[in-house]
Amino acid sequence: MSWDPQQYARFAGQRLRPALDLLARIPLEQPQTVVDLGCGTGNVTRILRSRWPQARVTGVDGSPQMLAEARAAEADIGWEQSDLAAWNPGTSFDLVYSNAALHWLDDHPALFARLCGKVAAGGALAVQMPRNFGAPSHTLMHDLAFSPPWRDALGALLRPQPVLAPEAYYDLLAPRARHLDIWESEYLQILEGENPVAEWTKGTWLAPLLAALAPQPRAAFEAEYRRRVAEAYPRRSDGKTLFPFRRLFIVALIG
Ligand SMILES: C[S@@+](CC[C@H](N)C(=O)[O-])C[C@H]1O[C@@H](n2cnc3c(N)ncnc32)[C@H](O)[C@@H]1O
Repeated sequence: MSWDPQQYARFAGQRLRPALDLLARIPLEQPQTVVDLGCGTGNVTRILRSRWPQARVTGVDGSPQMLAEARAAEADIGWEQSDLAAWNPGTSFDLVYSNAALHWLDDHPALFARLCGKVAAGGALAVQMPRNFGAPSHTLMHDLAFSPPWRDALGALLRPQPVLAPEAYYDLLAPRARHLDIWESEYLQILEGENPVAEWTKGTWLAPLLAALAPQPRAAFEAEYRRRVAEAYPRRSDGKTLFPFRRLFIVALIG
């Protein structure tokens, strides 16, 4: 999938908040090595470095577009282009952190087992993922993509439930962790502008679907999605649009 850093950054404030909420719950004092998986443009990676200035910090991402922005903004962090599905460094890290990225990967039982194996003894795995896949922003996209004109092109790209239930992560991590903190938050996001929920998903979940279509069907698909989303998330009399958004947080202390 090709990421558009500008589109993703349109809701930077709302997207940063959960990263900070996750960071606030990591009880490590002086990690020496920190890795940020799916670091994107590195805005959270830079915050990790400010919190632990003594640490060696690495940001890993699969997108050259996102990493180009990250590198331009901060040369003093190790930026690595790598597919997290195959990421298997020879070393372990005191903190393996990931904000809003692991829901793009499949097979979470194997993924989380692998990531736990990359945490040094006494370290932590800290993860935030959206778990909003039952919301209209998502289900409308799926319903549309599964409807006859689109199904052939888009059906194979759909991943209806990419994130498991919180209890499933407890079962995966409890045998490996000496302490677990797992919680969900639903943010009532107050958005501005024209059809902002469609603009939000265009920066993430809608992007691979649009990319799979030729220009004319792409425009038709997007127009119909935008129409349905605007109906599901009407603009209020004060001009704002409310977009409730649930996220799952995990902090596992290992070893
Ligand atoms: C929603 S952005 C989050 C960026 C950053 N963590 C933040 O909080 O601002 C998701 C990032 O995950 C990356 N990503 C998704 N799947 C990936 C994969 N399989 N391997 C590496 N990076 C991936 C994307 O390139 C993108 O930069």
